[in-house]
Amino acid sequence: MEKSQGKRESWGSRIGFIMAAAGSAVGLGNIWRFPYLTGTNGGGAFILIYLVFVLGVGLSIMTAEFAVGRRANLAAAGAFKKFNPRFTFAGVLGVLSAFFIMGFYPVVGGWALAYVFKSVTGLLSNSAAIGDYFGTFITSSIEPLVWMLIYLLANILIVARGVQGGIEKASKVMMPSLYVLFIIIAIRSITLPGAGAGLEFIFKPDFSQVTGSTFLAALGQAFFSLSLGMGCMLTYGSYLSKEENLQKNALIVTLMDTSVALIAAIAIFPALFAFGMEPAVGPGLVFVVVPSIFAQMGGIGVILSVIFFIALTLAALTSSVSLLEVVVAYLIDERKMERKKSVNLAGGIMVITGILSSLSMGALSGVKILGVGFFDFFDILTDKIFLAIGGMLIAIFVGWFMKKEDLKDELTNGGTIKFGLFELWYNVTKYIIPIAIGVVAVAGIMSIEQTALMIFGIALIVVLAIFSKKL
Ligand code: PHE
Repeated sequence: MEKSQGKRESWGSRIGFIMAAAGSAVGLGNIWRFPYLTGTNGGGAFILIYLVFVLGVGLSIMTAEFAVGRRANLAAAGAFKKFNPRFTFAGVLGVLSAFFIMGFYPVVGGWALAYVFKSVTGLLSNSAAIGDYFGTFITSSIEPLVWMLIYLLANILIVARGVQGGIEKASKVMMPSLYVLFIIIAIRSITLPGAGAGLEFIFKPDFSQVTGSTFLAALGQAFFSLSLGMGCMLTYGSYLSKEENLQKNALIVTLMDTSVALIAAIAIFPALFAFGMEPAVGPGLVFVVVPSIFAQMGGIGVILSVIFFIALTLAALTSSVSLLEVVVAYLIDERKMERKKSVNLAGGIMVITGILSSLSMGALSGVKILGVGFFDFFDILTDKIFLAIGGMLIAIFVGWFMKKEDLKDELTNGGTIKFGLFELWYNVTKYIIPIAIGVVAVAGIMSIEQTALMIFGIALIVVLAIFSKKL
């Protein structure tokens, strides 16, 4: 059916939308990245700064994205264009960010999927060898590639079925399941003898390790985890009915996302400390430390490990599906393409970037673009530059280029519901957020070691901005 010409797609129910939006937010960001960033940035202090950004910046931006998306009834680029063509580039930047994040996300998603099976086929039999095992696995050429492709295929199949029949349906099953699964793991973790030190690590802030880059890491993580700054929540908002309460939904989604990040930390750190392991190991944390912990638990460890990696895979899937949807929605709305064709085109490109990223861990590790391998190229550009700048652009757009009455109208459903904090939200979004992001971004971006990459990222945004009206 030619959807692009007819009625635009929409969510089937409120709960379906919440599950899909929370599904987008809750992902590798919460369970893979949040714990390792917490581990490398000193624990509690990082978490505290992160929470301040989530509530002080993230929640307002999510509200703004929902409002703009639903008002325009169009995905990112089209929505900006409708209100002010000088901002079309902000939407296009979002589509580009989606491609870039999808350049590395399915690689990690593939690892998670692989570990579901590896948990029962010997991964846990020798706990001392788990680190080497991970290293050998991700640097080999064929195996991780195959898992990545299976993972991507699942995304393509879900998104091809549409907003309601695919994304919403899948999220409604996957989201509640992963909650239950992680809670089981968290309970096991905090009931281990010696778990207290882990709880202390995450809840007792020690500011001695905090630097400028801690702030950028926390801000980038807030945007990444809440799926903000790249038109994803804007797109999901565009499929929302006029009756929905946007401010309330933004709050629910933000709280759900944050709770999963905290549950993940509670699942990991107490067990980590109970087994006397090192928290600051970086991106391998979930794939090395977590299985080592399970390996030391005996039989139950195998079951917990399977549960953990199933939950991780489900969380990742509902997120990458939303990334693919950002591109697909752009092709449908702006390029008048049909859904299936858009999915195949976007998915096809993601297969190529995914292959490059996966191989950059091993066979192609010598190939550098602007000083880094493919995986890091996609990761650093989005995490350190695009999402934060994208968030700043939406705040500026909403605060300075949209009519205040229109925003009020949208957020109160034409005056039928209350938004007591409207003035606060509006002023924070208009004045405080752009400055806050500006300060953190300038300080943080300056500290990126890869100067060439940094200049490239900024230049790309400037070029897009100059040609905005032509996009
Ligand atoms: N929020 C997702 C996660 O935490 C990642 C994501 C970022 C998804 C941006 C969509 C848009 O894993």
